[in-house]
Amino acid sequence: MFISFEGIEGCGKTTQVELLTKYLSHLGIPHVVTREPGGTHLGKLIRQMLLDPSHNEMEPLTELFLYAADRAQHIAQVIRPALESHQWLICDRFADATTVYQGYGRDQDLAFIQRLNEMATQGIWPRLSLLLDCPVEVGLDRARQRIMETSLEGREDRFEQQDLAFHQRVREGYLKIAAQNPHRFVVLDATLEVEQLHQEIVALLNPYLTDTD
Ligand code: TMP
Repeated sequence: MFISFEGIEGCGKTTQVELLTKYLSHLGIPHVVTREPGGTHLGKLIRQMLLDPSHNEMEPLTELFLYAADRAQHIAQVIRPALESHQWLICDRFADATTVYQGYGRDQDLAFIQRLNEMATQGIWPRLSLLLDCPVEVGLDRARQRIMETSLEGREDRFEQQDLAFHQRVREGYLKIAAQNPHRFVVLDATLEVEQLHQEIVALLNPYLTDTD
């Protein structure tokens, strides 16, 4: 069972991934938790390159290829092996994020991104993609609060530094691809309290708990 979590900055997906992980551990269900970018050793290096706010000279095409490179490595080293050994795989962002951030956000060619995604994923896609949707202002406020509290030296990353219009395009892009892929996507209200949202996710996943695919 392959599940991806998607959403704008500050939508709470990382918290929900953690809660779901605890729930699966509690039930004794074998699972792998991973993320993009940065789910492998090489991916972590790519992640640093992508998010470092001093890399503001990065070309949109360079950015696109780095996400694809991260994903190709991730598929080979983490995702395919986990699925082949019938574990649950929970992924904090996947190829949809490229469609939305690089396509809708950075205006890169959507047809090309689709081809690139197919190559990088080798046709492996989540069975379920949970889109945690909230207004951009809510997400960015949360993201900024997290930065203040945890402090990555108080710095926003390259994406958190983008203007409101960029994040608005990302949110709308997510809602669009969710509507285009209704069999895979479920849109959830990310303004809900953390525990309430977790319960909604658990209720959604319970029917799959006996699945090994
Ligand atoms: P994260 O903070 O959710 O781990 O994601 C890191 C950033 O990378 C986030 O701003 C979204 C961005 N991103 C893309 O632009 N394209 C992608 O394909 C992925 C996976 C993430």
